[in-house]
Amino acid sequence: MKKFDIAVIGSGPGGYVAAIRCAQLGLKTAIIEKYSTLGGTCLNVGCIPSKALLDSSEHYHNATHSFSEHGINASNISADLSQMIARKNKVVEQTCSGVKYLMDKNKIEVLEGVGSFKDKNTLLVNTGNETQEIEADKIIIATGSKPNYFPGMEPDKKRIITSTEALNMKEIPKKLLVIGAGVIGLELGSVYKRLGAEVEIIEFASKILPTMDGTISKEFTKVLKKSGFKLHMDHKVQNVENKGETVVVKALNKKNQEVEIEGDYCLVAVGRKPYTKGLSLENAGIQTNQKGQIEVNENLQTSCPNVYAIGDVVRGAMLAHKAEDEGVYVAELIAGQKPHINYNLIPGVVYTWPEVASVGKTEEELKAAGKEIKVGSFPIKALGRARASMDISGLIKIIADKETDEVLGVHMISARAADLIMEAVIAMEYKASAEDIARICHPHPTYSEAMKEAALAATEDRAMHI
Ligand code: FAD
Ligand code: NAI
Repeated sequence: MKKFDIAVIGSGPGGYVAAIRCAQLGLKTAIIEKYSTLGGTCLNVGCIPSKALLDSSEHYHNATHSFSEHGINASNISADLSQMIARKNKVVEQTCSGVKYLMDKNKIEVLEGVGSFKDKNTLLVNTGNETQEIEADKIIIATGSKPNYFPGMEPDKKRIITSTEALNMKEIPKKLLVIGAGVIGLELGSVYKRLGAEVEIIEFASKILPTMDGTISKEFTKVLKKSGFKLHMDHKVQNVENKGETVVVKALNKKNQEVEIEGDYCLVAVGRKPYTKGLSLENAGIQTNQKGQIEVNENLQTSCPNVYAIGDVVRGAMLAHKAEDEGVYVAELIAGQKPHINYNLIPGVVYTWPEVASVGKTEEELKAAGKEIKVGSFPIKALGRARASMDISGLIKIIADKETDEVLGVHMISARAADLIMEAVIAMEYKASAEDIARICHPHPTYSEAMKEAALAATEDRAMHI
């Protein structure tokens, strides 16, 4: 039987990064993946393919909506969805084979098959045809998550689809219904809206991106409505039916009246659930909670002390960079180091256009906690750079402690917010005050000037360019 210091189950961003860090630290490492390609949800059916389609659809949208204003005459422009999907597949293939290269480079043994526990140190790897046993001192579970759905909205993967099918469509929907105004609904809804579909979003809560700062949610709602999204807020979906050529969603509105909404596809995007199927956790005495997450302590250790769990399968944000940081954390902990993760500073980004990004606490959370705060915000339209590129929607909002001026939360909706948010993350990691940010020289003309102006507004209400 092969013996390892560490065996990692699952090769998503949590698992493969954990394996690399273990190998870097001199530990003999194996990684078990049930699919033939490495990279997990993120690389195969998540972050990477969705961003590839977002980028292609954005080019198409710009070509059809803003080229002429820029003085570029382009005629006979059409969207070739099959080519967009083919390009996306190529990006995925290259990225996944990059992970295989990294495994080989770091001398990590890749075992293809479903991993399960025989006991706390023995794993079975089942390929379907045969089962091999391996032994490991420590095991890291990184089995990720799958799309969630509620009774009445079970995806049939034909017209009632999840994000996985939405990334592989054969045609551009005429009218795409989306259940859930969360990250997936807004990103993939944007892809097909830009390609010409009508998009109607049916959301249970009263605001889009319900966990984000209220100001951002309000501003983003305006942007989405202006670009033609139809939003049905406060609607509780009862049932979704595939009628052959169409799909019908029945929902109860705020007044408890039943409404019917018809389209040709329905994307179910109501969250994801942790995935532990087939692991036989009971053979190692590993417990899960009511949400199906593997229970872990502050060291990401399960109820079985030599087994750790990271990423989407445990509590916390379901984000690739959170999974990666947890992978590094566990590897370093096992190697005897003293790693640290600041969960308050895990940034969240929605890759729509404009992009939405945030870090730290929202105004609602801080007020609920009784914190005395001050808020500074600055509209993107006041920036010279924004007018030059015609991306004028949005704002940056900085929330600081009223007394100490320490930055407690930064929320933005802006072109390039996905990259801008890192200034806020770094500032907050070093416990900067709003005035610290305001006094730093920001290059002109850039979107980053809105950070400086929002910080000036938060410091003493002295933004300069408004
Ligand atoms: P996963 O990536 O889910 O990987 C788990 C792996 O474990 C899979 O390969 C699975 O096959 C394997 N596995 C499961 N059980 C077993 C078993 N018993 N034996 C062997 N292998 C097993 N996050 C971001 O931060 N940014 C984004 O832009 C972003 N976009 C997304 C877009 C979409 C459409 C989706 C669906 C998700 C997106 N996410 C994004 C979320 C991100 O993909 C996840 O947070 C991330 O992949 C979690 O990583 P993980 O390693 O925990 O699990
Ligand atoms: P989500 O949690 O972001 O949004 C789900 C939405 O569905 C919520 O607004 C919720 O109120 C709504 N909802 C729940 N039940 C409903 C019902 N019965 N009827 C109507 N609406 C209902 O989940 P989503 O969008 O599925 O994404 C899953 C995960 O994937 C997220 O946790 C996210 O972290 C991750 N992800 C991250 C991305 C990024 O970082 N850019 C991109 C895509 C996904």
